[in-house]
Order: sequence, then C-alpha cells, then structure tokens
Amino acid sequence: MYVCVCQAVTDSQIREAMCEGVCSMRELRQRLGVASECGRCSRCALSILRGQQLAISANPPQPAVAFA
Ligand code: FES
Repeated sequence: MYVCVCQAVTDSQIREAMCEGVCSMRELRQRLGVASECGRCSRCALSILRGQQLAISANPPQPAVAFA
C-alpha cells in the first residue's frame, strides 16, 4: 500500500528500512523522503513506525548461533 504518494513510498519499504536500522521519522524522511513534501503521510508513516517497533520489541531477533 502506498503511504506517501508524493514520494511513492509503500508500507513495505518503510518496514524494510526499519529492518535496516531506521528508527525515527527523521531517519525515514532522510532515507525515503516520507513526509518531505505535503506531509499528509506523516501520521500513517508514524503509525507504521510505532507498530513495527512494538512488533520488534515483542519478538526481538535471535542472535545467530555458530556451530563448531
Ligand atoms: S504524501 Fe508524503 S509528502 Fe505528500
């Protein structure tokens, strides 16, 4: 689903950016251009950001286990 029409950014791209370390609206704006023009997407983008942060904190990634 398109979240930011001005920059053609989807919710999947936002989640992908978060998996790569983005964790704030400022970083999202810098990385993908979300909310950098009309700003109508900022509330939806923030909602996705917070939802994803909750999901990650509820189910943190497990460290890789090395077998010798
Ligand atoms: S819809 Fe995102 S800046 Fe306009």
